[in-house]
Amino acid sequence: MKEKYHWWQTGIIYQIYPRSYMDSNEDGIGDLNGITERLDYIKGIGVKTIWLSPMYPSPMYDFGYDVADYTDVHPIFGTMKDFGRLLEEVHKRDMKLVLDLVPNHTSSEHPWFRESISSKNNPKRDWYIWKDPASDGGPPNNWLSYFGGSAWEYDEKSNQYYLHLFVKQQPDLNYRNPEVRQAMLNVMKFWLDKGVDGFRVDVIVCLGKDELFRDEPDDPEWDGIVPFMKHIHIYTLNLPLSHDVTRDMRKLVDRYNDRMIVGETYLPYEQLIQYYGKNNDECHMPFNFHLLEADWNAKIIRNLVDDYEAILPKDCWPNYVLGNHDRKRLATRIGQAQTKVASMMLLTLRGTPTVYYGEEIGMHDGVIPPEFIQDPPAVNQPEIANEVGRDPVRTPMQWSGSANAGFSKEGVVTWLPLAGDYKERNVAIQEKLNISDLSLFKALTELRSSEPALTIGSYRSVNADNVNVYAYIRTYENSKSYMIVLNFSKERYILDLKNVAGEGTIIISTLMDRKEKTDLAKLSIRPDEGLIIEF
Ligand code: NOJ
Repeated sequence: MKEKYHWWQTGIIYQIYPRSYMDSNEDGIGDLNGITERLDYIKGIGVKTIWLSPMYPSPMYDFGYDVADYTDVHPIFGTMKDFGRLLEEVHKRDMKLVLDLVPNHTSSEHPWFRESISSKNNPKRDWYIWKDPASDGGPPNNWLSYFGGSAWEYDEKSNQYYLHLFVKQQPDLNYRNPEVRQAMLNVMKFWLDKGVDGFRVDVIVCLGKDELFRDEPDDPEWDGIVPFMKHIHIYTLNLPLSHDVTRDMRKLVDRYNDRMIVGETYLPYEQLIQYYGKNNDECHMPFNFHLLEADWNAKIIRNLVDDYEAILPKDCWPNYVLGNHDRKRLATRIGQAQTKVASMMLLTLRGTPTVYYGEEIGMHDGVIPPEFIQDPPAVNQPEIANEVGRDPVRTPMQWSGSANAGFSKEGVVTWLPLAGDYKERNVAIQEKLNISDLSLFKALTELRSSEPALTIGSYRSVNADNVNVYAYIRTYENSKSYMIVLNFSKERYILDLKNVAGEGTIIISTLMDRKEKTDLAKLSIRPDEGLIIEF
């Protein structure tokens, strides 16, 4: 039965930010060989799929999301040979490798843009989005960059502006030009032919822009903090063209055996599910970021999961994300005490979980002194650096308590400072402990992969007898059924769950000190505890 499902449905996705995972050549920046060294660890924690943030040649204005060559590897990360070895070693372990595809924009140093900016008559002029100035000589319209200021940059030589939704060194490609569409498909083909298993597609929802270049309206609910949020982005986000391009990408990927694409889709559910495609012909999965953005509250989370389950068309496979390289780390966002509850939830909901590196040991955001800040939205907008800066979530992986946390050799200056708690919170320590974030993570992934109810079974939330508790049931045919009970609060409760079943057996507690038969009419749950109960 399980065979009917694809690897991207049953397996866990683990995101690696290559600069920060493992530095094998002592330059303070992580690299591909470092990741290869750590593959046994990754397999050992029960991960199936690695999603690698960009490792392509890049001037690094946005740390690799500004690609200067889509079909090569940046020398700081290694060589194409190193990449080949990584891919081979991943596959040897029966794992999968998904690359980050950044189709919305290139680097301003990409040869395509160099040609485009060279003259108005260059055949690649129209590969990017060029417009004449407004009548006052200013930008053509009011569109804003995600990273601060106008989304238009003036080119004196041609007296035109080009569009960049991110930094000015990231000019947006023009997807109304069929040559651009084909060029990006060729990029995908290059990597698919090498054997990569799929792509995480960066800002897939931004690929289409309004043909009339209309001004975006003000958002009356803007809180006055992040300038980009001043507007409602109806002309730069989620236009039909983004769906057309996605369909082309899917068509190509489907020509290969069992590959996949997962799109970056920060959207309300109604719009999100459209990225599966009307005929399931767009993304295999558009990322569901709703839990990443939500207040950590049992009722809110339950509603978000229930709503998603209700709206998701039958043939579409769910997924959940609790952390990535753009958002605060879980421990910082919801507090250390709740991270184990969150882990239990992520690894037991119906759908593919995506885990950001370091979350398995409960890493926190690092504290980045102002002189070390590097992330463009923070550098460009120092007054809101704390709100928009992403350096704190990208600090080096904490492998051990030794110098540089085992990420890099002693004495090397790492590209970002380590988070302050690496001596107490690291893989080496947690691997030795019977009770740790990591041992819980492993226990959960083991159970998940061995129990059909947890990998492919159905989901139904139940009344948990307390507003601070979220409970749900996973069942699959005649296999064992499970109830997951998650206490989001600092209170101890006795819950009456006899409506679900009379008796059950607690097989995992997030506190890892309890395996016992229990009467579900008076289930005792401790503060910040999560339980998996077999019944
Ligand atoms: C979304 C990526 O996740 C983010 O890190 C990046 O800065 C922007 N897209 C631009 O590529």
